Parts: sequence; structure tokens; C-alpha cells
Amino acid sequence: MDKVIIFDTTLRDGEQAAGASLSAPDKLEIAKQLEKLGVDVIEAGFPMSSPGDFEAVQLIAREIKSSTVCALAHANAEAVDNAWEAIKRAKHPRIHIFLSASDIHLFYQLKKSREEILEISRDMVARAKGYTKDVEFSPMDASRTEPAYIYRILEAVIEAGATTVNIPDTVGYAIPQEYGDLIEGIFNNVPNIHRAVVSVHCHDDLGLAVANSLEAIRRGARQVECTVNGIGERAGNASLEEIVMAIKTRSDFFHLTTNIDTTQIYKASRLVSELTGFIVQPNKAIIGANAFRHQSGIHQDGVIKEAITYEIMDPRSVGIPASSLVLGKLSGRHAFKERLAELGYVLDKEAFDRAFMVFKELADKKREVTDRDIESLVAEEMRTASEVYHLDYVEVSCGDHNIPTATVRLVGPDGRAIADADLGTGPVDAVYKAINRIVGVPNQLTEFTVKSVTEGIDAIGEVLIRIESDGVTYTGRGAATDIIVASAKAYMNALNRLLAVKKARKE
Ligand code: KIV
Ligand code: ZN
Repeated sequence: MDKVIIFDTTLRDGEQAAGASLSAPDKLEIAKQLEKLGVDVIEAGFPMSSPGDFEAVQLIAREIKSSTVCALAHANAEAVDNAWEAIKRAKHPRIHIFLSASDIHLFYQLKKSREEILEISRDMVARAKGYTKDVEFSPMDASRTEPAYIYRILEAVIEAGATTVNIPDTVGYAIPQEYGDLIEGIFNNVPNIHRAVVSVHCHDDLGLAVANSLEAIRRGARQVECTVNGIGERAGNASLEEIVMAIKTRSDFFHLTTNIDTTQIYKASRLVSELTGFIVQPNKAIIGANAFRHQSGIHQDGVIKEAITYEIMDPRSVGIPASSLVLGKLSGRHAFKERLAELGYVLDKEAFDRAFMVFKELADKKREVTDRDIESLVAEEMRTASEVYHLDYVEVSCGDHNIPTATVRLVGPDGRAIADADLGTGPVDAVYKAINRIVGVPNQLTEFTVKSVTEGIDAIGEVLIRIESDGVTYTGRGAATDIIVASAKAYMNALNRLLAVKKARKE
């Protein structure tokens, strides 16, 4: 069977989603999981867009070995040179150049003629080719461009050395049949098309990104650009997990495969959700909390008799563990370690010991410790591993006849414990003010959300916050059975990220 190349752009288009901001270490962590997932090409970022993005792309290029590492560049010499500078240490580097092609963009935005665009595209691909043999070109807004002009651009850039030509539905305007016709038209009208891979890049403004991508591969495209959880500019991109599982589940229809290890999908989804702070909706295909849950009696009856009656995929095939044993306060280190491994976590001894201690504390408070509890607990452990300030202690006093008061104790970078207290409009406000007195970094809280990880009064509460400092947004998460403690941890998490970025900038 033919293979479809999976090009993941979570770290580039995905990060363009409003409110998503990832630090360089966050990006590296996601890139490593994408490599484990078996992604063929990782678009690591857009180096020219900011020094932070340049640094992240460079870091990923050095560390990732089996996937191709791609950097996006505008079609100008400085951006192409800068993209190469960022990825030149990669084992498999790719430069991806884009330039608008539609008359709408040319007239209103670029104020350039079609001939000028064609010439720039050709020249910049040739320039990138001087650096690496792997060059991709995207005529932006291709789905709203006259097909005959797209054919001319593609022929020119392939002649100049492009090895992949990508056809973006930049504004999510296309309808499957129409987009498929465009792809088929490209195969029939670009004389040198056999020298390049045809790629597709669809946005989800009409909820058609996955449908358009699948129709395109049915018509011969062999690279799909997509993101984990479908995050991306505006309504997002085609979702990686949906594309991959559609190809796998309906191989009888597509007769195609991918290199993806689908059992790593769930872990990738959780990681991206955790680090971007974007919650996955419960009914999201493949990885939503309800994707494999059966509520109706008839469905439950069928699944008990034979899963295939109402399940077209085995949840284990996407890495959702089928838990056989329930963990509780009598569970020992061995059972805990085994469950961690089933969930895909391998912790070093120190981290394991700390996680086990937290698990035991949790098991004392909760009758049953679920997989989601364990994931939340491990995420908490990972967050605290790289802290500048650590929350050692928090206490609040509040009520309807009381001025909310908080006392906190933090352990600072020099290992010394510092305590302080403050009043607030509510207990969380008081905690944040007390922390501010110690850390002393001005910022503004822009978002605060709390949700429970599982059902029940004893559930872990997860708090997600965003703070803004110097125009940059930092996400923080915290989890605990006490939501004030979870709020304090989330604030510490966001502050620690802010401090890490400030330190890196200084250096
Ligand atoms: O949507 C788009 O057109 C893009 C290009 C940069 C490929 O993201
Ligand atoms: Zn895009």
C-alpha cells in the first residue's frame, strides 16, 4: 500500500492559535512525543517570526533524529537564510517557503502582479535549494486562486527544486469535491508534477478540514499537514488523530498507510492539551473523553456482547488504556509503576518516588484513583521538576463574615524558604497577592478556569490560568483535591514559566 506522509504543524500553525503560547522547552517536549508518534515531518516553527521561535526551532533541530525538521519562511532572502540557520543542524532539514497566490491577497495585501509572485517564488525556492535538497513550497490561499495560475506556479517552483508542493486551503473555504478537483487538476496539468510530492493543508473554518484532506489523498495527494487535537489559526487545522485513524480504520476504502504508531496518539493529545492549556472537548473524535463511552442501554448491551457492535476502533489502538485493576490506598509501588507504564510514562527513580508519595496522599483522600487522576498527578510532577520558586505551603481563611486572608511559603532559587501573607477580594486573590509579594514580577491575570478531573465530590480539581506580562501570555496549570491549592499551584506554574523566559532572554 502507498504511504501518506504525515506532516505535523502543531508547533507552527497550531501555536498560531489565539491564546496558545509555548516555551522552547515545551516545544521540545512536544517534538519528542511527535517523533515517538512516528510523524514524518515536524514543522518546528517560523524562525523569522521571533527570537523565541528561532531558538525553539534550533533546539528541536539539534535533538530530533528520526523525523524531518522543517522551518517555515516567508518568500524573501532574509527569511530563507534565517530558516536555514535555525535548522542546519537537523539530521533531516526541510525549508518550507510560502507566498500568497490568490488575486484577493495579491490585490489587497501584497500589491504585486502574478508575474512578480511567480518570479519571487521561483527565486526563493532556488535559494533554499542551495542550502538543502528538501524544499517545500506553498502558494498561500490556493483554494481561492485560479487553478491555471496555480499550475504555472507549481511548474516553476518544481523546476527550481521544490520537492514538495503544498496546496493550502488557508481560509477553510473549500468543499471536498471542489478541493479534490483542484488536486486532480494539478496532477493532470502540471507537466513535472511527478518530481514532487503533492501536499494538502486544510483549515477548519467550515468544519471541513479533515474531509477536504481525505478527499485530496483519495485524488492522489501523499502528504497531509495536520495538528494534534486540530489546534491552529482561527478554527484550527485538520486533526492529526482523525486523519490517521480514518486512513487506518478505513484502509479497505483508502488502501493507504502511514508511519504513525497510533498507540501514542492519546499521550500526544494529552501533552498538547496540557502545555497549550487548550481543553479537548468531550465529544472530540478519537481522543475526547466520551469518544469510547457508551451511554444508551442498547449500545451498552451491544458492547458487552461484542465491542464491534458499536465500536469501530479499539480504544487501546489509540493508546487509551483499558484499565483492568482499580488503584486505591492499598495499591503498592509495583501496581502504580505498572499503571504508569500502561499510560506511557517512564519516570526516573526520584520522580517516581515523588509521584508515588503524592499518589498515596491522594489515595487516602479518594476511594478510587483513576487513570485521569494519575495523568493529572504525573503532569503536576513534571511541572514542579523545573521550578524556580516552589510552593511549600498555603493556608487561607475566608467566609462570608471574613476578609479573605492567605499565608504562603515558597522555596526560592537559593533553597531558602520565604513566607508572606496578604488580604484579597476572595481566597484565590489573597493567595495570588501573597505570592506576588515574594516573587515580585508584575503581571495580569487574564483567564482563570477550574474543572474537575473526574466525577464525585472527592475529585481532583484542575485549574488553568493565563497571565500576561510585557505583552506575552503564560499558561499555568495546577491540580489538587483542594481547589485553592490547585489555584496556587497553577499560578506558581505560570510564574515559573515567565521567570524561565525572562532568564533565557537575559542570558
Ligand atoms: O494556512 C496556510 O496557508 C499556511 C501556510 C503558511 C502553509 O499555514
Ligand atoms: Zn495554515
